[in-house]
Amino acid sequence: MEKMWAGRFTKALDKEADDFNSSIHIDSVMYKQDITGSMAHAAMLAKQGIISKDESEKIIECLGEIMEDISEGNLMVDMNAEDIHMFVESELTKRIGDTGKRLHTARSRNDQVAVDVRMYLRDETEEVIKLIKELLSAILSQAKENILTIMPGYTHLQRAQPITFAHQILTYAMMFTRDITRLNDAIKRMNVCPLGSCALAGTTYDTDREFTASKLGFDSYSLNSIDGVSDRDFMVELLSAYATIMMHLSRFSEEIILYSSWEFKFIELDDSYTTGSSIMPQKKNPDIAELVRGKCGRVYGDLIGTLTMLKSLPLAYNKDMQEDKESIFDALETVKKCLSVFSPMIATMKVLKDNMYKAAQKGFINATDLADYLVKKGMPFRSAYKIVGTLVGYCVENNTVLDEIPLEKYQEFSELFAEDLYHEITLETCVEKRISQGGTGKKSIEKQIEYVTEFIK
Ligand code: ARG
Repeated sequence: MEKMWAGRFTKALDKEADDFNSSIHIDSVMYKQDITGSMAHAAMLAKQGIISKDESEKIIECLGEIMEDISEGNLMVDMNAEDIHMFVESELTKRIGDTGKRLHTARSRNDQVAVDVRMYLRDETEEVIKLIKELLSAILSQAKENILTIMPGYTHLQRAQPITFAHQILTYAMMFTRDITRLNDAIKRMNVCPLGSCALAGTTYDTDREFTASKLGFDSYSLNSIDGVSDRDFMVELLSAYATIMMHLSRFSEEIILYSSWEFKFIELDDSYTTGSSIMPQKKNPDIAELVRGKCGRVYGDLIGTLTMLKSLPLAYNKDMQEDKESIFDALETVKKCLSVFSPMIATMKVLKDNMYKAAQKGFINATDLADYLVKKGMPFRSAYKIVGTLVGYCVENNTVLDEIPLEKYQEFSELFAEDLYHEITLETCVEKRISQGGTGKKSIEKQIEYVTEFIK
């Protein structure tokens, strides 16, 4: 295929170099955005008297047909084309001849790619947000079922204090609500239209960039044309938001993996989200959660790859930038796939409440509450802490638990201990009495559920 830019060359591009140079395999997914951008451009050219109204209408009509033909599978994108911008333009010229050749007035591929990718990522981010909201719904349904499900809360992966499973799982909901706000923030800064920057310096034609920007749903147009074609900050921001989503998913996955092990047995994943072993008949492996955990590294790689590609790049457009789409599309697809399998896995998992409760009975997780008991009776916290520490030592040595030490023994440690201590250190009391805002008590959990429910709307 002859290149659009063939004029000054005496030889064709070497075949292998041509393949190497082409980005059609990655940017063909942006055909709709490319065509929509071209339609707005053609309308602007006519409005400004740069091409005739007839020509503009002819171009727009034909572009519409090309879009339909590709969408319906009647036109295959030619994988020998250099990129999607060249493909659409050459198809247009093939269909309407010289009129088609007028489209590429007062614009360059540099602003085309910059505008197409922004529109594409804008649409796709909506999709990602929808998927995160599905995950939030799955978390909510588990939280609502487990407002009173007591389990050990951990620090350093050591049993620390009793909490409810609703409290634990709603932590992830908080992370994912922030992820949505991060994506929306990135989109706000990204929604600036570079179209009309042309190669880099603007153009001698009297164009109207405000018109194309608003026609394409942008909030404004880029004020500096060099920046318009060379800025890829929005990709770095989006990639870092994707990487953060994956980091959150990897932490969540890790807990799902731990919880479904025999060592914990806090949950059981549904058969449809687990796999067996080829040799060990008893195995039920959390492969989906493990894969999500693993794919986190891949998305970090996409972020670091893009930052590194951009490092030290001189202004304005450089071909290095063609690599941007490889990374960001890979990250985007990975995040979407991970979210799509993760939500139903969470929604269908079975919470083994009894096992959680049994685990909470071990590990002296009511020790803080016993210290608080003494504080409420007038002892300074540091002294209470020390007495309870000694009591825990006594329990370890005598193979017993705080709930089972007789009162007389307790009173050897402090005279403040009385019969009511036993009620104060039941797991139920420990949880119910955590009435502070944001704590594990019922009221706070209900408030969190309400917040996430409102957020999804
Ligand atoms: N395929 C190119 C990319 O993805 C489009 C822009 C090419 N511009 C240029 N002057 N070679 O970055």
